[in-house]
Amino acid sequence: MTLFFVLALYVLLILIWLVCFFFLLLMSYGIITTKVPYVPIPQHVIDEVKRLLPMKAGDQFYDLGSGDGRVIATMASAYPDAFATGVEKAPLPYTLTQIRFWRKPLKNVKTLFRNFSRVPLNNATHIYMYLFPEVVEKLLPKFEAELKKGTRVVSCDFPFKTKEPVETVVVSGRHKHTLYVYEF
Ligand SMILES: C[S@@+](CC[C@H](N)C(=O)[O-])C[C@H]1O[C@@H](n2cnc3c(N)ncnc32)[C@H](O)[C@@H]1O
Repeated sequence: MTLFFVLALYVLLILIWLVCFFFLLLMSYGIITTKVPYVPIPQHVIDEVKRLLPMKAGDQFYDLGSGDGRVIATMASAYPDAFATGVEKAPLPYTLTQIRFWRKPLKNVKTLFRNFSRVPLNNATHIYMYLFPEVVEKLLPKFEAELKKGTRVVSCDFPFKTKEPVETVVVSGRHKHTLYVYEF
C-alpha cells in the first residue's frame, strides 16, 4: 500500500513537471517568434480603451497581438453591433483565447492565429496594440499604406516616434499605463 502510494506520488510529480515544462516551452516559443512577451493588460485599462474607441454598428476593431482575447471580448460585448478581431501568433495565448470564447461565445468576434504584419487592415476602423517600441515603429508604414482615413489607433505604453498622438491618457493603478491615441 505504501509502495503504491510512493509510486503514485512519483507519477504525479513527473506529470506536474511535464506540464510545467510544456507550459514554459510554449511561453519561450511565443517570445522567441514574436519578440514581444504575452503580458495581459489589466481590465481597468481596457475599460479606458473602450472609452477612447467608441464604435458604431458595422465598425471593425482589431487587437494586434491579442494575447488571451480579453480586449476583443470587452470590445465585442460593449459594442454588439460592431466586430472585434484578435490577431495572435503565439500558441499559448491563442489557446487561452480559444478557451475563453469556447466558455463564453460571442457572435461578433473573430480570432486569427497569424502574424499581424500579414493581415490586411483596410477594413479596420479602430485598432489597439500593446507591443514593443521597435514593433510599433515597424507598423507605422503599414498603417499609413492600408488604413482608411479616420481610423483611430490606440497604442499602450509605446508611442510612434514620428507621429503626434491626438490624445494621451495616463491610467493609474498598481502599474501606470499610458494610452496614445492616433488618427490616420
Ligand atoms: C503585451 S501582449 C498584449 C496582449 C493583449 N493585447 C493585451 O493588451 O492584453 C503582446 C502580444 O502580442 C503578440 N504578438 C507579438 N508580435 C506579434 C505578431 N507579429 N503577430 C501576432 N501576434 C504578435 C504576443 O504573442 C503577445 O501575446
